[in-house]
Amino acid sequence: MRSIGNTGLRVQPIGLGGMPLSIQGRPDERTGRAVIEAFLAGGGNFIDTAISYCFDNTDLGHNERLIAATLKALGRTDVIVATKGGLTRPNGQWDVDCTPGWLRHCCEQSARDLGAPIALYYLHAVDPNVPLAESLGELVKLRDEGTIAAIGLSNVTARHVDEALALTPIAAVQNRCNVLEARDVKSGLVARCGELGIAYVPYSPVGGHWGHRKLAANADVARIAAKHGTSPHAIAIAWLLALGPHVLPIPGASKVASIENSLTAAALTLDTDDLAVLDRLNTPRR
Ligand SMILES: NC(=O)c1ccc[n+]([C@@H]2O[C@H](COP(=O)([O-])OP(=O)(O)OC[C@H]3O[C@@H](n4cnc5c(N)ncnc54)[C@H](OP(=O)(O)O)[C@@H]3O)[C@@H](O)[C@H]2O)c1
Repeated sequence: MRSIGNTGLRVQPIGLGGMPLSIQGRPDERTGRAVIEAFLAGGGNFIDTAISYCFDNTDLGHNERLIAATLKALGRTDVIVATKGGLTRPNGQWDVDCTPGWLRHCCEQSARDLGAPIALYYLHAVDPNVPLAESLGELVKLRDEGTIAAIGLSNVTARHVDEALALTPIAAVQNRCNVLEARDVKSGLVARCGELGIAYVPYSPVGGHWGHRKLAANADVARIAAKHGTSPHAIAIAWLLALGPHVLPIPGASKVASIENSLTAAALTLDTDDLAVLDRLNTPRR
């Protein structure tokens, strides 16, 4: 088990990223439920979602409702669901809106769909048109009112984290990070989160919708996968887990086989030779 920052919440190291179950190309509802059920059957207890994981603005909350309905049908009240607000989906595009009014609207809808308090609520991005303090100020109010229990940041730099910490405790930082795209390892942000007692949640941990094929085609990753008798995806997740005990990868899946395979990464131990090769693919470890 690993901690979500200083929230006191303990979760299995590998979460489920819910996005592929609700955006363009999503599977039918039966398959979506089966993916979530397979994750839970494999011992998972931490699910990542967002109000914006849907087709467009007429469909906001699709992913949260799918998760909530699946958990309800199974009678599972012990699963930690983290969600996010601050994006909109006009005609299926991804736009940022972190005005206090929109954040409150999103958060209150998510609380109705998931149940309050929401264990962890992320600011999905920093809005270039709204001061971070203004967006975060609304989340602080929502926490004080009991709608959310803890605040996270997503798509942020170290400077944003420092600015946010001056205003409120932060439980988690969620940024794009995988063995081929490890900017936050190189910049030291992953390590810094650990020092600050903040969970680091790498999204697109196997490269994302397109990048996971590139990862699978990487000769070094494939060689290490063959050595361990596993998939390149599992190796990539194991590499993230080895960055520190505060790292909680959230692989996405629209197929049961994908999440079943991702969960096997928790049992993998990469040796120093493996880590040296994988580190060199992108960036040296600090
Ligand atoms: N905060 C943000 O701005 C942000 C942005 C992007 C994503 N996220 C979150 O992070 C989660 C993960 O990111 P992601 O879904 O973009 O990318 P990802 O986890 O890197 O996965 C992308 C795709 O890779 C395939 N895959 C994953 N594990 C596999 C395995 N073990 N074997 C074979 N194929 C595998 C899946 O394909 P199939 O669909 O075929 O199963 C999956 O849809 C999202 O679901 C979402 O919750 C957050």
